[in-house]
Amino acid sequence: MAIISSQDADAEHPKEGRKAGKAAREPLKSNPGFPHQSNQSISLPGELAEENAPKTGADLLQPEADPAEKQEESLRPRTLAEYIGQTELKEVLAIVIAAARARQEPLDHLLFYGPPGLGKTTVAAALAAEMGSRFYMTTAPALESPRDIAGYLVRLKRGDVLFIDEIHRLPKVTEELLYPAMEDFRLDITLGKGRSARITSLALERFTLIGATTRVGALTSPLRDRFGQIQRLRFYEPDELVQIVLRTARLLNTSIDPEGAAEIARRSRGTPRIANRLFKRVRDYAQVRGDGHISQAVAAAALELFHVDPMGLDWTDRKLLTLLVEQFGGGPVGLETMAAVTGEDPQTIEEVYEPYLLQIGYLQRTARGRVITPAALRHLGYEAQSPLPLWS
Ligand SMILES: Nc1ncnc2c1ncn2[C@@H]1O[C@H](COP(=O)(O)OP(=O)(O)O)[C@@H](O)[C@H]1O
Ligand SMILES: [Mg+2]
Repeated sequence: MAIISSQDADAEHPKEGRKAGKAAREPLKSNPGFPHQSNQSISLPGELAEENAPKTGADLLQPEADPAEKQEESLRPRTLAEYIGQTELKEVLAIVIAAARARQEPLDHLLFYGPPGLGKTTVAAALAAEMGSRFYMTTAPALESPRDIAGYLVRLKRGDVLFIDEIHRLPKVTEELLYPAMEDFRLDITLGKGRSARITSLALERFTLIGATTRVGALTSPLRDRFGQIQRLRFYEPDELVQIVLRTARLLNTSIDPEGAAEIARRSRGTPRIANRLFKRVRDYAQVRGDGHISQAVAAAALELFHVDPMGLDWTDRKLLTLLVEQFGGGPVGLETMAAVTGEDPQTIEEVYEPYLLQIGYLQRTARGRVITPAALRHLGYEAQSPLPLWS
């Protein structure tokens, strides 16, 4: 499989709202005419230095890709067999692949959605590899003008995969060009301007579009309807994250024991990207303060030093839970109210913060609103106090 990328592979862009205070990472301009081979060099340990900018808990727990994380490409599983977890998803994909192969047809268009860092880009590339397809990678904000998307479409050969990241951010003109391209493999080009303008259609080869998004609800329905499969990626279970950490340790020649891996996994918010990032910080610590081996004690000490919460909670999670306790006696509280008191927008709470808190059983959704759980109270250190109204 060739990975061809129009820009810095997998540069992800911050969600609106979540990082309002930080400078937005501007997408690089695409060069649709000449997709080039992405740089897949394996980083040497010495190069880690540039990742060593002082970072603590809050930054380390951001699920979005950090452009400084050069090593991410080299850690990406290349095949579905190497891809850990997401068993249901892999099962579905195995069927889709087998069926397409049996019919000797390209794959149907696919959409992957789910929080950042769960492996959407990775699974898309692995899928192309399974099909023996070329993989062209771009991101929606880079497809500014019709020429950008046209540049890709006309170059695609039968069976090629075009991957569009953050597909909910497609400019309208680009999206409208995609409709006939996805449905009828046809590119409609407007020639000339004003009264003399006319539309010509160009036949395209039968390609596969794979879209990825963190916000499936933000897709227009005509676009959503053109995907043959829409698949959600879910947070990883602790044992799956342990396997991911052990795999990364193996690839980076680091000595680790399963308890050390478990300590890192538990703090990774169910997210492989965060697990790998925490792993690297722990590895630095083990090299400098110890003999290089990562045990449970070393991992715990390192992550404490970097202010990574034992359950991977970040500042906003804590604020959210604390407010629930202190202002609402633990709930139930409606989403809108929660948004108002935390200053986050409801969508960000629902799509970014809640999923993880629900997953680890710190929050429950009831018909009357969100309720904090005893496990969350214990974690926040409320257990010693008198019972809250909710539990009395
Ligand atoms: N199932 C998996 N098994 C092992 N590593 C994974 C898996 N999914 C993701 N990763 C790791 O996490 C990183 C982020 O994954 P990525 O596909 O870029 O996430 P997304 O596109 O959903 O934001 C990858 O570089 C890879 O190293
Ligand atoms: Mg991605």
